[in-house]
Amino acid sequence: MFSSRFHWDPSPNRLTRLLRALRRAGATILDLTESNPTRAGFSYPEEIVQALADPRALRYDPQPGGSLAAREAVCRYYAEAGHAVEPDRVLLTASTSEAYAYLFKLLADPGDEVLVPRPSYPLFEFLATMESLRVVSYPLVYHGGWSIAWSIDDHALAAAVTPRTRAIVVVNPNNPTGSFLKRDELLFLQSLGLPLISDEVFADYAFTEDTARLRTLATTNETLTFSMSGLSKIAGLPQMKLGWIVISGPPAARAEAKDKLEWIADTYLSVGTPVQQAAPRLLDLGKGIQSQIAARVRANLAWLASAIAPDSPCRTLAVEGGWYVTLQVPRIRRDEEWALELLEKDNVLVQPGFFYDFESEAFLVLSLLTEPGTFQEGCRRLLERVDIG
Ligand SMILES: Cc1ncc(COP(=O)(O)O)c(C=O)c1O
Repeated sequence: MFSSRFHWDPSPNRLTRLLRALRRAGATILDLTESNPTRAGFSYPEEIVQALADPRALRYDPQPGGSLAAREAVCRYYAEAGHAVEPDRVLLTASTSEAYAYLFKLLADPGDEVLVPRPSYPLFEFLATMESLRVVSYPLVYHGGWSIAWSIDDHALAAAVTPRTRAIVVVNPNNPTGSFLKRDELLFLQSLGLPLISDEVFADYAFTEDTARLRTLATTNETLTFSMSGLSKIAGLPQMKLGWIVISGPPAARAEAKDKLEWIADTYLSVGTPVQQAAPRLLDLGKGIQSQIAARVRANLAWLASAIAPDSPCRTLAVEGGWYVTLQVPRIRRDEEWALELLEKDNVLVQPGFFYDFESEAFLVLSLLTEPGTFQEGCRRLLERVDIG
């Protein structure tokens, strides 16, 4: 009766089952996985709500690519970072997830493949399968330096391309490794001639400066490229449901992609009028939220670095930006076992590396968004547990 795309096991995993049991028993869990900024103790100004109370929202004037005023506000966001983006290259979506769905519809037929990084964002598998596509992963290699922490394994990526490959996804900076795309990597990707999909939701959260790094692909001209972002991360407002795609590349391909994307968007018209009208104001107000988030993630990262003793069997992997840090723990247990033990014995919730498809063991992923008191106490317990072995 139902589509075969739902081939996933719907039962909760071991970590979720244990978490539910502990919560039922009344345990207080130190959650080091919180990635919802609206639940992380930031201060959200009242003007956000006021921005949505605009009488113009009583009129429905659907435009597939989004209202011009909202698209111009997106262009100002890029201009402030020194990137010239014109409104006719911007298409609004309800979220980055929806942007992926639109791009997969635009570029691929059922059964085609998209290349995605590994380790990376676990949602790719679902986003691609929902469009009847297959994800094929290409590895990122860890080097450990602060300037070159991770890089794309270019041989492995080239070998993963098949006649059915329709696009290459880059996450810039990547979740959870925090690694940015570098100029030479972009040249390599462009040499393959495939459309590029660049997920830039964390681009504003760099920990250091590095001129080899690319903050956005929104102004590249060589190959057809789609840069995505949205209010969810840059303004800490995931509930507003406003994201976008910036199309760049050779003009003819760009124009055709734009027409077809507008066709797709016209089929759904999913971006609400109130949020489009509020977009200029929300992007402005979002700067204050972004700076609170940026300060929090930096402070948590610095605290963790200082809390790990030189003789600890734990180390953090070098991270260039984003909201996460990866901790390498001894391989005496699989990362799932570490996560289960931390939850059961210490009431500390972390994500095991296998959620993100790390190639080896044992890695734990922590959200730097976590409220500092919880983060510090949770990390203390974690470091102690690992010390005990
Ligand atoms: C890499 C990456 N892309 C996209 C998203 C989701 O963004 P949105 O809320 O715009 O769908 C996330 C959320 O965690 C993410 O980590």
